[in-house]
Amino acid sequence: MHIFLDTANIDQIRQATKLGVISGVTTNPTLVAKEATADYEMVVKTICAIVSGSVSAEVLAEEADAMMEEARVKASWAPNVAVKIPVTAAGLEATSVLSQENIAVNMTLCFSVNQALLAARAGASYTSPFVGRLDDIGHDGMQLVQDIVEVYQQYDLKTKVIAASIRHPLHCVVAARAGAHIATVTYDVLMQMINHPLTDIGISRFLADWKKVSPK
Ligand code: G3P
Repeated sequence: MHIFLDTANIDQIRQATKLGVISGVTTNPTLVAKEATADYEMVVKTICAIVSGSVSAEVLAEEADAMMEEARVKASWAPNVAVKIPVTAAGLEATSVLSQENIAVNMTLCFSVNQALLAARAGASYTSPFVGRLDDIGHDGMQLVQDIVEVYQQYDLKTKVIAASIRHPLHCVVAARAGAHIATVTYDVLMQMINHPLTDIGISRFLADWKKVSPK
């Protein structure tokens, strides 16, 4: 499973990229707004200069023609931009045209297997089931990831599943076991994935033992 960073924070992207474990970035209007800027283009172009993998930029238009127009502009910002489009009727119409133009589409706000199946049929490169938001309303978000992966495999659909709205490290473990192609995680979750108390204890113990025998 590949790891994407789910943020528009440039410092976090720079830090995480140094680790050599990040294959892409996903953004959305909420994440860009958190950085106190409305300059989506500047943010995405900066991220694309740091990250060579896929960088998702959300389309805000709601009608199919306007979505396509906006998507073409956003896709022109950098070769690695994937446009994020919600799974609606208009979004599917736009995706089916954009995918024919070889524009990578990440169909977002996916909350059902049917939506994921339609996204794949429309030619989306990625589908993003929002795990945490389903958990928030008492549904099993990870079961949805597992079901989508199973259906895509059954019909040999090439659309990649991005487990999104990941809230904690256990979500990543379950997404990986379910066969999600990608999990997009916040910087905080990435740090939680790295840390383990026994690793810290082990390092301290090795250093303490070495000090006992090492020359003064
Ligand atoms: O990638 C989608 C993600 O940004 C949504 O996360 O925490 O707002 O549900 P959240």
